Amino acid sequence: MATTDESLATSPIGQDTPRVDGPRKVTGLAQYTADFNFPGMLYAVPVEATIANGKLLALDSAAAEKMAGVRAVFHRGNIGKIFRSTPAPGFDRVCEERRPPFEDDVIRYYGQYVALAVADTFEAAKAAADAVRATYAKEKPNVESRLEAGNDPDVVLTTYGPVPRLQSKRGDPERAFESAPVKLDETYVTPAETHNPLELHATVAIWDEDMLKLYDSTQGVVNARSVLAQMFGLPKENVRVISKFLGSGFGGKLYPWTHVPLAVAAARKLGKPVKLVVSRKMMFQSVGHRAHTQQRMRLGATLDGKLTSLMHDYVYHMSMLDDYHEDCGEATPFHYSVPNLRVSFGRARRNIGAAADMRGPGAVPGLYATESAMNELADRLKIDPVQFRILNEPKLDESNGLPFSSRHYIECLNVGAEKFGWSKRNATPSSMKRDGLTLGWGMAGAAWPADRFAAEANVQLRDDGIVRVASATQDIGTGTYTILAQLAAEKTGVPLDKVQAELGDSSLPDGPISGGSMATESLIPAVFGAANEAIASLLIVAVTSPGSRFLGHKPDDLALANGRVFVKTEGPEKGVPFEDVLRRANVRLVTGSGKGEQTFFVPGAKFSKHSFGCHFVEVTWEPETARLRVSRVVTVMDAGRILNPLAGRNQIQGGVVMGIGMALFEETTYDPQNGAPINSNLADYMMTVNADAPPIDVTFLNYPDKEINELGARGIGEIGLAGVAAAITAAVHHATGVRVRELPVKIENLLV
Ligand code: MOS
Repeated sequence: MATTDESLATSPIGQDTPRVDGPRKVTGLAQYTADFNFPGMLYAVPVEATIANGKLLALDSAAAEKMAGVRAVFHRGNIGKIFRSTPAPGFDRVCEERRPPFEDDVIRYYGQYVALAVADTFEAAKAAADAVRATYAKEKPNVESRLEAGNDPDVVLTTYGPVPRLQSKRGDPERAFESAPVKLDETYVTPAETHNPLELHATVAIWDEDMLKLYDSTQGVVNARSVLAQMFGLPKENVRVISKFLGSGFGGKLYPWTHVPLAVAAARKLGKPVKLVVSRKMMFQSVGHRAHTQQRMRLGATLDGKLTSLMHDYVYHMSMLDDYHEDCGEATPFHYSVPNLRVSFGRARRNIGAAADMRGPGAVPGLYATESAMNELADRLKIDPVQFRILNEPKLDESNGLPFSSRHYIECLNVGAEKFGWSKRNATPSSMKRDGLTLGWGMAGAAWPADRFAAEANVQLRDDGIVRVASATQDIGTGTYTILAQLAAEKTGVPLDKVQAELGDSSLPDGPISGGSMATESLIPAVFGAANEAIASLLIVAVTSPGSRFLGHKPDDLALANGRVFVKTEGPEKGVPFEDVLRRANVRLVTGSGKGEQTFFVPGAKFSKHSFGCHFVEVTWEPETARLRVSRVVTVMDAGRILNPLAGRNQIQGGVVMGIGMALFEETTYDPQNGAPINSNLADYMMTVNADAPPIDVTFLNYPDKEINELGARGIGEIGLAGVAAAITAAVHHATGVRVRELPVKIENLLV
């Protein structure tokens, strides 16, 4: 049919599409939270506890208060009421550190806020914060990195609800392990990692009577509105949260942290807008990090390489009060076929700030352990690691008996091996050389869940030919503005430069958090529903307005394609531009609303829904100078249909780059004396930089997953990082002969 062909010809879906917000970013027009300034605005700087365990006995702010330009020093005695925010049903009112700031005098981690200086300038506020003297009753902090599970009940409360510590079990894993002819029992350790987006956490609070307007660097404006409304005892319609551009977040900005209510409370007390920008040092203390984990893996297999037992028992660290759960066992129960399995966890409380989601939370440290164990067991079996995985491919999700919605893991492995040249691998360590360098080749698999959050959207067709699409979601740098525009263009057939995408404002229809790699998946039904409703409204205008050439037709006789209203039997060439239809009718705009239901955490799923992938990594090793480099990466992803391959490849490459950091650089270390993160700056906290990033060849299999949404798109924000560290440590072993089971790999690990 001509109409279908026409709309396919102009469809932006699946086309490499440059960011629609790119020009605003490169010309400096894009405003990030800290860029917003208002008349009379004041600056707030928190005072950080310099102990990690004990009590605040006294605060002396007399000198600070007398300093030039200082408006106030707030503390427990004068900040005013800040209520506790509590979890809500569904996916709402999420936050990691529930204790309102200043609620008691107990210090539980280094950097906990004990006071807040507010002044006319940032410099004056900083000087005043530095001049506040705190007296503490200090106790020895527990930041011990060796983890032992504390005494927890069988079911523990977590940020997202109760979770049994025995996460998954089938068969008799202990017995099967004992009797396995080939086995492995090793512990894999990952460090605390700190989110280091370029943009610091920032918030600007403005009160107008009892209306609160908050510019905030958040990955979830709708959730932030709910949390802040409860903290200040307001109906949520009295709170508006705005987040137009983010210098990324990596999960650290999903939910509000304690500096946000502090800025709001200060603005309320002083009757002026208050800006608070967290320092880089504070980023290591009080706005989350990836939890330190210790994962014992026990795997048993037959001599011909069939897994018979898999036990994944892990411990992670957590703060004294909070409930963050580092779900290392997320992918373990379904990733491979094994009749006997156990996944369980324990937790160790430490004097540190709350941990939080960080890109690929749970599954990323978890897959490092499981994929490393798979690689090591393959070596013990003398079976190629790719072949070993293929031998243990499950037919369905063995943890719940559900079919996979769309799983092409073996194809990922085969395509990756082919592109990388894996068949040329000599399995003997240190045996492969090139240009005087020793080569190491390693690989690993990846998985990440696919689901949807509830989402609403609005679409307008306007008489100036513009299609406006809006949802209260965010663009954290991933390309959500562009995806929204592509979705609206797909439905209406107008070119992308005629689409105006709006997001990052809680006054828009409730949109999803930019988290779980689920924003795009969630927005598709909402935007398509909204576009359909707006188009239906347009067609009514077309058949009813005086003088319209469609008078006498029924709306059902008409359609919209390429931006033109036309009679279906005539085809779009004879159509009328939609803006002409509206203008003739003296209608400024038609509008439609759409909604997608939540599927995430909703019981009764008929399919096991995940994305899959794999990485093949080459490292080069110079033993004379102990120089290790990642020299190339081949990544294959089975992540549903890719709506924007340009941005999609970019996402996966970014994930791989972060995986190089996880394997070789990133580690937050805590001072045993005062409990402070020691390397709390960008000079001492090492991350992958451009010079460390090799060519990264990304392939998408592009199989639509129709169980997820109409377009078959799954999320790709996080899976690129999953498995990378296991592939790199396997390559390091292949190059050097050294097994490193504690990340990051350090030079001293390799000097043996
Ligand atoms: Mo992602 S850790 O869900 O921002």
